[in-house]
Amino acid sequence: MDGLMAERKYLSSKYFYDKRGSEIFQVIMRMPEYYLTDCELEIFEKQKQEIYAAFSQNSSAFELVELGAGDGLKTKILLSYFLAKNNDFEYAPIDISETAVHQLLNDLEKEFPSLKTRALIGDYFHLLEELNHQNIPKVIMFLGSNIGNFSWDEAVSFLSELRRQMKENDLLFIGFDLKKDSRIILNAYSDPHGHTAAFNLNLLQRMNRELEADFNLSNFKHLETYDEDNGATKSFLISQQKQKVYFSKFEEEISFEKGEGIFMEISQKYDEQMIQGLASAAGFEVKKNFYDSRRYYLNSLWEL
Ligand code: AVI
Repeated sequence: MDGLMAERKYLSSKYFYDKRGSEIFQVIMRMPEYYLTDCELEIFEKQKQEIYAAFSQNSSAFELVELGAGDGLKTKILLSYFLAKNNDFEYAPIDISETAVHQLLNDLEKEFPSLKTRALIGDYFHLLEELNHQNIPKVIMFLGSNIGNFSWDEAVSFLSELRRQMKENDLLFIGFDLKKDSRIILNAYSDPHGHTAAFNLNLLQRMNRELEADFNLSNFKHLETYDEDNGATKSFLISQQKQKVYFSKFEEEISFEKGEGIFMEISQKYDEQMIQGLASAAGFEVKKNFYDSRRYYLNSLWEL
């Protein structure tokens, strides 16, 4: 409601992920236009040896922590390779979704019976604190360009908080989507199948259901913008007419002008200089960057 009552209306993209939203996101990740998935898969497939060498350089025993693990599709490539090299690491997926973590662990148990796992359900920072009681170094992974859904300031404060939870030999491995030709980006986020539009509109549906609102979904249209200069990729829902939406739950009415937008999500694209700047702002050193062959995407390894 704060967002909808603001001068420039906004909603937080963290609310996208109800059951239906998570399903649509799975479909988005598998569309050929959403190149991010393929890029990260390619990096893992082709450079798993170098990634393993970098992760294990401080200690052959480590705790591999994944923030927001989801279905673990990409991580399995690393897990399979790491297991073949050494059995001395433990995989700890952290997710707020209990179902996601349990399903992932069931899956992993079948696929990799010798893998040691520790399921962590809940808030990242609390759980990291828990892991700090152990003495083996942590490698924390934050993949899939999830960092892109934070504004610069939010990213700096999130990463600074992570840093506070890390010890000397711990590492952080982050997936960044890179700035590139706007047509490629807009094709991924304004896709011809309409999945991204459905993903955004689903949040209106969710408010209809959970907050007793009366959004008419056909009165809103999805719009994606990309700023080549600063790399900001933004998602909006644009009101197609002057209209009012009533929230019975709060007895509040929200008015929309024709053409007025709700800012839904940022998917920030970076360049190397920005990544370097973000690392220093949060107190990290960039140790190594792993690129895909098209240089669309990179996984960056940071140390304290
Ligand atoms: C989860 N996150 C990294 C996705 C992204 O690319 O910003 C969410 C998404 N939004 C539209 N398509 C995918």
